[in-house]
Amino acid sequence: MSTITVSNHPLIKHKISLLRDENTGTKDFRTLVSEIAMLMCYDALRDLPLELVSIKSPVAESMQPVLAGRKPAVVPILRAGLGMVGGILELLPSAKVGHIGLYRDEVTHEPHEYFCKLPDHIDERLVILPDPMLATGGSAVAAVDLIKKKGCKNIKFMCIIAAPEGLKVLKEAHPDIDIIVGCVDERLNERAYIVPGLGDAGDRIFGTL
Ligand code: PRP
Ligand code: URA
Repeated sequence: MSTITVSNHPLIKHKISLLRDENTGTKDFRTLVSEIAMLMCYDALRDLPLELVSIKSPVAESMQPVLAGRKPAVVPILRAGLGMVGGILELLPSAKVGHIGLYRDEVTHEPHEYFCKLPDHIDERLVILPDPMLATGGSAVAAVDLIKKKGCKNIKFMCIIAAPEGLKVLKEAHPDIDIIVGCVDERLNERAYIVPGLGDAGDRIFGTL
């Protein structure tokens, strides 16, 4: 069963407001994206499985919980998803990192794949898919399609701002994944940009206006 979780923490809300501000420059924008990703990730990983192992402290040996199974994989959707990777790796420093390259056609808004490199045993890992923006949902659906084709079953899509239209499309196409959202905005405009949104996330992260 899919879940949609909206991160309600005041720190996340505050930082998203700063991101939206057109006067926030590239350096601060990058820092904020990374910080928000870390805060969202903390919440999103509440259900990570644990196993008990024997730990010997200076006082006594006892069974204690550690993360179970293969290390998670973080697979950002290029380019903008890259901006979230550092924050997630602060919490999961041993995670494997893959990349899926997709760009949205400016006229049709359809996603086009241009790169895909995934860690080994991807089908046995929790896959965290970060992308700051979920607009029409086309890119997210294509990315999840791609990793499901590799056999992945445990998938968490993480975005900072979502349009209601994109959330609906993603949930209907992939009802079995977890979706973690920082904020759900009003709507898409005629150019399929999120309103009020923050503009083009990739351009603002990389300074490519
Ligand atoms: C942006 C964003 C998402 C996509 C969302 O990427 O980072 O990947 O658009 O739009 P959608 O939900 O309508 O598919 P973009 O294609 O602009 O590429 P970029 O990250 O390289 O700038
Ligand atoms: N991609 C972005 O970067 N911003 C939007 O508002 C929509 C798609």
